[in-house]
Order: sequence, then structure tokens, then C-alpha cells
Amino acid sequence: MSITPLMPVYPRCGVRPVRGEHCHLISEDGRRFLDFASGIAVNALGHSHPGLIGAIQKQAETLMHVSNLYGSPQGEVAAQRLVDLTFADTVFFTNSGAEAVECAIKTARAYHQSVGNDQKFELITFNNAFHGRTLATISASSQEKMHKGFLPLLPGFKYVEFNDLEAAKAAIGPNTAGFLVEPIQGEGGIRIATDEFLGGLRALCDEHDLMLVLDEVQSGVGRAGTLYAYEQYGITPDIMASAKGIGGGFPVGACLATEKAARGMVAGTHGSTYGGNPFAMAAIGAVLDVMSEETFMADVRAKGERLKARLEQFIGNYPDLFELVRGRGLFIGLKMKVEPRPFVAHMRDNHQLLTVSAGDNVVRIIPPLVIDDSHIDEFMEKLSAAAASYQPEDAA
Ligand SMILES: Cc1ncc(COP(=O)(O)O)c(C=O)c1O
Repeated sequence: MSITPLMPVYPRCGVRPVRGEHCHLISEDGRRFLDFASGIAVNALGHSHPGLIGAIQKQAETLMHVSNLYGSPQGEVAAQRLVDLTFADTVFFTNSGAEAVECAIKTARAYHQSVGNDQKFELITFNNAFHGRTLATISASSQEKMHKGFLPLLPGFKYVEFNDLEAAKAAIGPNTAGFLVEPIQGEGGIRIATDEFLGGLRALCDEHDLMLVLDEVQSGVGRAGTLYAYEQYGITPDIMASAKGIGGGFPVGACLATEKAARGMVAGTHGSTYGGNPFAMAAIGAVLDVMSEETFMADVRAKGERLKARLEQFIGNYPDLFELVRGRGLFIGLKMKVEPRPFVAHMRDNHQLLTVSAGDNVVRIIPPLVIDDSHIDEFMEKLSAAAASYQPEDAA
């Protein structure tokens, strides 16, 4: 038998982390890595955060799991906190980002079906989007590489160009239920929606009674320098998917909605055995405690500006390698003029620096939100050394 016990769907690299210490990861062989990947925008509080550990430990000793057949004091507290902090009136908790997007898709369809518009089931989505790996969420993405081998796709999605408001408007038809969009595309390469685009989608939704569904699984929970990125656009969505940083490493997601948007999500329409599990609720509480500290978001924005300024100055030294820097908060993309994957591997294997590649030739720089200036210094040193020793023609 040649198949590995772990189903071989990931091309895993040689780094095998066994311990995390704040903004560093220690691998099985003892190497110490600076973690500017954060488990792909998950470890917002870094590794081994005492508040998060304490909350999960306390919950483990008290109550690990109960069914959603019972009342959930823990879920009510977490949902109320999210309602207080966002546009939403109600929250469904999931175990992952893809499930949060699934719930958002169902909520949008159910809204229209609950008002008798059964034909309005189609969501307009945007090229290079990433919404997860379930059948519905791969169907929501235009990326054919994710479809291969899994056809047929789920019907009900139409793809148009990101940031093209006219194309979005032209795509509206009798079946349109709404738009599903990332305010800042993560996997797509830290591509930022323009104010005109996101504001324009909101206006189209208002005009045609459509649902504006935001996927803030990656851009949310402080990553872009505000609790959610939509806050920077002066708009609010009808429905939003959140996950990743919201549990700080504990697997949890959430689908948030206004009362109007959630009108179809009545008893018996949706569910999840683990969704809203007391453990997950404890993790959310610990993350929100830290992020609600008065200066937390302003600090993320300031650190992001400092890091971006250092990067912008630095890339001028390597005009053949780097094209530009873009992003908000600590959601930063370094666009390369060469294929980024081998450079990400070079930084990792030769300079103990972890980053993640993304679409559009981008290296994602997504550190824990709790970095300080010493981590920015360490990052710049490692990046400089990696660029100086990099020979793209040698890359595999
Ligand atoms: C924008 C976005 N949506 C959804 C997902 C899916 O989340 P998960 O992998 O937790 O299912 C991701 C994951 O990268 C994402 O970036």
C-alpha cells in the first residue's frame, strides 16, 4: 500500500511543528521558526496565549460538550457579544469557515424562499474568490482547479470580475438572491475591494432587495485592523461568515445575520452537532476579551503601517524580485515578479521564516496580531537575508 494514513490531499512541507511559543513555532527537529503565517490567519493571539489556554482549560474542567437540544448559556453569551460588536442581530455557530459560508448561503436562499420568491436562489460571486472546500463553497468559487474531480457543481452561482461593479450589476437577473464577496480576497492575493465596489454592491442590494453576504473568514477578527473589514467601508452586510481568528486556534466559525436576513432560519432548518460547543464559546470569549482592549485595533493598524513602510522601503533593493506591497492592518501581500512559492519555501527552509503564498504572485504576510516591534525587526532581517541569498533560476 502506498497511500499515507493521512489522506494525501496536502502537499505538506518538511516543517513539523510540535510546540508554539508566542510568535514562534518549534519543529520536531528543534528548529525555531518566526511564524508570519499564523496557521493561515488563525492564531490571532499567537501561540500559547495564557488567556486562551486558561479559558479552554477552565471550560474543559466544567463542561466540554452538550447537544444543541439544550439551552446554551455559553452560546448566548458569545452570540450577544458578537451582536453587540457588529451589524448582526443573530448568530449561528459552526466549526469552520466553509460551514459558516454554507450557513450564509442557506440563509440568503431561505430569506427569499420565506418571502415566496423561490426563484431567487443564485448568488453572484467574484473571480479568484475562495470560500472553502465543501461542494457548495467550491461551487461558489470560479477557480477551476478546485472543481476538478468533484463535478457536477452545485447550481446557483454566477461568477463575475472582482471590483467590477458594472459587471456585477449586469449579472443581476430574476434568479439573483444576492452577492457573496470577500471585502479583501485572501487566497486570491490580498486584493482589496474598492469603496465604490463594495458600496455599490450594498446599493444594488438595497435597490433590488438582494442579500449582501460578506465572507470575512480571513479578513475578519482584527486581521485588517478593525474587528471586521466591512467597518472600513461605511456599509453593513445582511449576512456574514466569520471563522479563523475568532477561535484563536480553536476550530470555530460563525454565520452572522440581521433579523430580516435570518427570517427563513427558523427551528429545524439548520443544525450542527458541535456548532456552538462550550469549548468553542470559551475560546471566542477569550479572543474577544483581548481584542476589546482599548488600544488593540489601533495597535494592529499602527503595526501594520510600520511593517508596510519597512517592506515598501525594502523592495526597492530588489526590483527584479518584488513588485509592490498592499494590504490593511496585518493582512499584507508582497507581490512578486516571480513565482512566489519557491521563495516562500526558501524563506522557510533556509531562514526559518514562515509566510504563505497566495494568488496573483503574492506572498501573504499574516503574523499573529500580538507581534511587537522586535518581531517586525526579526522578520525584516530574515526577509532581507532570504532575498539576498535567493536565486530564482535555481528554484525547483
Ligand atoms: C475567505 C475564506 N472563506 C472561507 C474559508 C474556508 O475556511 P475553512 O478552511 O475554515 O473551512 C477560507 C479559508 O481559507 C477563507 O479564506
